[in-house]
Amino acid sequence: MRKLRMGVVGCGAVVTIHHLPAFKRCERVELVALADRDRAWAAKVAQKAGVHEVYDDFTPMIGRVDAVLLATPNTTHAAIACRLLEAGVHVLCEKPMATTRADAERMFAASATGGGRVMAAHSARFNPNVTMLKDILAAGWLGDVQEMSGGLGSAYAVAERRTEFRREPGLAGGGVLVDLGIHLIDVAVWLAGAPPIAVDYDASCADGWCLETDCDVAIEFPRGACASLSASYTHGPDPTFTVRGTAGWAAASLYVPSQLTLFSERARICRRSGIQRLMLDDRTSYQLQLEHFADAILSDRDFVVRADEVRTDLDIIERCYEIDRARAGAARSGPSHAADAARAADTVAEGTGT
Ligand SMILES: NC(=O)c1ccc[n+]([C@@H]2O[C@H](COP(=O)([O-])OP(=O)(O)OC[C@H]3O[C@@H](n4cnc5c(N)ncnc54)[C@H](O)[C@@H]3O)[C@@H](O)[C@H]2O)c1
Repeated sequence: MRKLRMGVVGCGAVVTIHHLPAFKRCERVELVALADRDRAWAAKVAQKAGVHEVYDDFTPMIGRVDAVLLATPNTTHAAIACRLLEAGVHVLCEKPMATTRADAERMFAASATGGGRVMAAHSARFNPNVTMLKDILAAGWLGDVQEMSGGLGSAYAVAERRTEFRREPGLAGGGVLVDLGIHLIDVAVWLAGAPPIAVDYDASCADGWCLETDCDVAIEFPRGACASLSASYTHGPDPTFTVRGTAGWAAASLYVPSQLTLFSERARICRRSGIQRLMLDDRTSYQLQLEHFADAILSDRDFVVRADEVRTDLDIIERCYEIDRARAGAARSGPSHAADAARAADTVAEGTGT
């Protein structure tokens, strides 16, 4: 069986805690090189992982690997990915794939020019319970979706990380919205299966931060489905993604990805005793994501995370920040600007879709 030769660029917390165990278990991938701008750190990580090639930069990987997992700070993704994609190297790019729609377009253009394929690593979709939620919706068990809700977060002080890039606007490209909110937005967009027709947003910034640390996003999708999503660096919103439809509801824990709670008027398994808790595949989302990425490249199949969905996610994020700027302007300038802010909140998200 042919294996995908892969390198990792950026060896921070997400790589050492989540991706390296996934690489170990994924039979279709051979991890051959690691790069981090802190080469001494990369060398330590490589020694533990049994990887022989270590670099302080991604460029020597070109020509030596088929694909790269890119896990550097958010705003650095676009430039690094473009160079790799133009050279024909496939890229599994950590979320947010880009911090602006314009950067994402540059990445898709580089992919079209160079032949490298790019997939945004929206790992939450690969949680077995979230994947099953998608299948349950497709099977019609919940009827038409009416409401979705989800939360993610914890006190920033206890979150695992190697660097403080999330506090630096130039590296983070946004606050908790682009860091954690994007997971929830992506799941909502994927489950809704359509771009939104309206977005609203509210955020606040804890002492000592210049980026938002708490945010609420409300999204209205076609046919009356709505999503209410909360992300936080100051507390832990209920880490569950819940979908209510005309014929039932389902709740997927985002921290215990093998658990799904389901009530459906239409599912035969529920007829006797009502609510069911299903115990699913216990592979991690990172392993399932890596297996999917490798399989899609090696077998020339489509990625589950589509380009039009990545565009929609980023359009929603840009809309949120637009609303925030309009509100901040209104607060500074008085009542006439408050009307502009209200209009921004109601504006239909433009430019989404395929
Ligand atoms: N999918 C998920 O669940 C998930 C979870 C955490 C983080 N992430 C994403 O992964 C990325 C990294 O996050 P983290 O928490 O691991 O960060 P981190 O601060 O722990 O580590 C970042 C690493 O990147 C290195 N680095 C910085 N610039 C570099 C460059 N130009 N070239 C090579 N290395 C460079 C740093 O030295 C550091 O080792 C972010 O985009 C983040 O949003 C995703």
